[in-house]
Amino acid sequence: MQDFSFYNPTRIEFGAGKIAQLSELVPAAARVLVLLGGDSARRSGTLDEVLAALGEREVQLFNGIEPNPSFETLMQAVAQVREQQLDYLLAVGGGSVIDGTKFVAAAALYEGDAWDILLKSGQNVTAALPFGCVLTLPATGSEMNKGSVITRKSLAAKLPFMSEHLYPVFSILDPVKTYTLPPRQIANGVVDAFMHVMEQYLTYPANAPVQDRFAEGLLQTLIEIGPKALAEPEDYQTRASLMWTATLALNGLIGAGVPQDWATHMLGHELTALHGLDHAQTLAIILPEMLRQRKATKLGKLVQYAERVWGITTGSEDEKAEAAIERTRDFFESVGVKTRLGDYGLGAEHIDAIIDSLQSHGMTQLGEHGDVTPELCRNILLASL
Ligand code: NZQ
Ligand code: ZN
Repeated sequence: MQDFSFYNPTRIEFGAGKIAQLSELVPAAARVLVLLGGDSARRSGTLDEVLAALGEREVQLFNGIEPNPSFETLMQAVAQVREQQLDYLLAVGGGSVIDGTKFVAAAALYEGDAWDILLKSGQNVTAALPFGCVLTLPATGSEMNKGSVITRKSLAAKLPFMSEHLYPVFSILDPVKTYTLPPRQIANGVVDAFMHVMEQYLTYPANAPVQDRFAEGLLQTLIEIGPKALAEPEDYQTRASLMWTATLALNGLIGAGVPQDWATHMLGHELTALHGLDHAQTLAIILPEMLRQRKATKLGKLVQYAERVWGITTGSEDEKAEAAIERTRDFFESVGVKTRLGDYGLGAEHIDAIIDSLQSHGMTQLGEHGDVTPELCRNILLASL
């Protein structure tokens, strides 16, 4: 096991009806900005519940944080916070609203050009406004981590940043709030959470048996409950398991003390920035070939994954690895997320621009060994057509 420092101060309030607890979780004297996506929170009644729980506090709204939240939109929220002297943020939505809120929390207190926060991956964030979350979409883990991913439309750039100042103070996870999600978003959530586990698990053996078994348990749970979550949208227990699994997949726990990959995510961000694909769609396309092209360095973990997660016990090591990769692709397809570039109207002619963009963002030595080069990424995309 590698040395590590583990810190996670986010309070989780989990269960049906928990939104009412906002009345105690948000300080009584707070001047609150509630940040929202499109109209899903308004339509589902979640916003009304939130406003009722906030009671007499000074509350303003900021509407319109888009999926893959943009710098351009979020700077309008930063201006509102500064002009109206608001001092507490409340994200009501999915990963995009939460990520956007993290950016606003940091940018509102940042002196200088706020895009520098992305250019420095958040290392220059020294303070942030406090914020809480009401999660409506299980997928990203943003509700219990310090990361965020922001898009600057004018540059077609989608970049991540992180800071210890950006853990939510609290997150409310009410599985009932997921009932209104369309199947596409549930499928995206299952794939994204699965991928978060894979990025921290499928590297090389690191003498970390408990991290491995936590990770395998999360993967098996997603395989078991993903189809159920789609088939029975109002099955509370299934949605509850999905919500908590997605949070645990990226709250730092399973990644402590182990090598991490993240190459699939970084290449996927370029696909979203240039072609607008959903985050999870990009991951489903890239992962199978990412694993196949790196089979030699990942073989130990691929075989473990095949045996323990998929129950594949016959064949050579190579055959087990191949079978596990195909089972993974089939799983993504089975929940309705397509796994080929061609499924999204993309072809070989689009690959150069994706690789150029990856290079321009300095993403030239990705993966747990730093050996995932732009050339390898090109081969992965060609194999994913
Ligand atoms: O905008 P509204 O109207 O709210 O609708 C949203 C949006 O259209 C809708 N939705 C959310 N909750 C709903 C609902 N519709 C009906 N009922 C509900 N209860 O779902 C759509 C997608 O929402 P979005 O927040 O974009 O999805 P997700 O949670 O998958 O977040 C994706 C973003 O998170 C980033 C991704 O890159 C992407 O930008 N990620 C953040 C991470 C992190 N902070 O740790 C890690 C991830 O790897 C990921 O990169
Ligand atoms: Zn992700």
